[in-house]
Amino acid sequence: MNHTQGMLAPESLKGKTIIVTGGGTGLGKSMASYFSELGANLVITSRKIEVLQETAKEIAAKSGCPVHCVACDVREYEQVERVIAEAKEQFGSVDVLLNNAAGNFISPTERLSHRAFDTVVDIVLKGSYNFTLALGKDWIENKQQGNILSIVTTYAWTGSGYVVPSACAKSGVLAMTRSLAVEWAKYGIRSNAIAPGPFPTEGAWDRLLPGDLKKKYDPAKKVPVGRVGDHQELANLAAYLVSDFSAYINGEVITIDGGEWLKGAGEFNQLDAIPEELWDAMEMGRKKGGSKLKMMWLYFKGMRKLKF
Ligand code: HXC
Ligand code: NAP
Repeated sequence: MNHTQGMLAPESLKGKTIIVTGGGTGLGKSMASYFSELGANLVITSRKIEVLQETAKEIAAKSGCPVHCVACDVREYEQVERVIAEAKEQFGSVDVLLNNAAGNFISPTERLSHRAFDTVVDIVLKGSYNFTLALGKDWIENKQQGNILSIVTTYAWTGSGYVVPSACAKSGVLAMTRSLAVEWAKYGIRSNAIAPGPFPTEGAWDRLLPGDLKKKYDPAKKVPVGRVGDHQELANLAAYLVSDFSAYINGEVITIDGGEWLKGAGEFNQLDAIPEELWDAMEMGRKKGGSKLKMMWLYFKGMRKLKF
């Protein structure tokens, strides 16, 4: 058994109806696919109906469970309400919302138009609160329990240059997650988030690392465990959080990034670059009675190898 395999027992999500925004591609598709494999009724939604139909066919053929798709722009509240209405028509009720749809691009902030800023914030933040509000109202009115999971990023709390609209929006989604975890717990509605590190997807990676940037900037190099994420390990975490096994987890954001953001945060983490010879020289320097010559030799050898 390893991280590339499914983790939960078969039928762990049987009978649950789950809406996945941005469920036609990338990580949304991978999580949706695993939910379906575990017996869930799926509703996937995004703007491009052809992509959704293709994905729905593929997932249903693999799992044998029903997958419904509805085209919707998450920025438009009426369209969001229509998705929820269709989900209820199809499956009776909705149990879980996965806020996964996002828009993003890299750019120096001063080069962005205000419309570009709006576009990313509207998809990520407004899209997530549109779905959360519409479904939350429905759950509370019908005295039904609910579970909201939102996909954020680690820069939701660190911030990040060159993706400022996305950082603003994701931190807003995280604030909503923690706020509603408290406010709506009395209605039986839980709210959690996942902050993924780098996971290869066409949508994100072609936009964030266009052209030669991909060759020059290898995301795996920033990750202490030395690799990027595998979709199945994210799907495992998401399936656990939308399942009843995680009933006592509420208001949490779980990072799944191989230690990436902490590597950037720790004051001395870049000392990874110090070669053994330099550590040896420093150790000899602080102990009494060592050979000065050997210490100097190790020091110069280490300094020659040192690359920051
Ligand atoms: C600067 C840009 C731009 C770019 C668009 N705009 N792309 N500005 N750099 N690369 C500007 C346009 O000029 C326009 O402003 C405004 O943004 C709206 O552009 P549209 O193309 O009309 O928007 P729309 O059709 O709604 O498309 C949304 C989109 C697009 C965000 C621009 O990229 C998209 O559909 N993305 C969805 C998928 C996605 O982004 N996935 C990545 C998620 S990854 P003006 O002023 O000209 O009108 C992610 C990972 C995070 O979040 C962490 C990784 C580790
Ligand atoms: P992706 O494949 O581009 O997924 C984004 C999805 O959002 C697409 O299916 C897109 O479908 C949908 N979408 C965009 N705008 C929409 C709108 N206005 N209305 C409805 N749907 C819309 O990228 P991904 O990498 O899988 O990203 C999935 C999630 O993971 C995002 O929340 C992202 O921020 C997060 N994330 C990813 C990484 C990573 O390394 N990949 C890291 C951290 C966080 P349509 O174009 O059909 O609308």
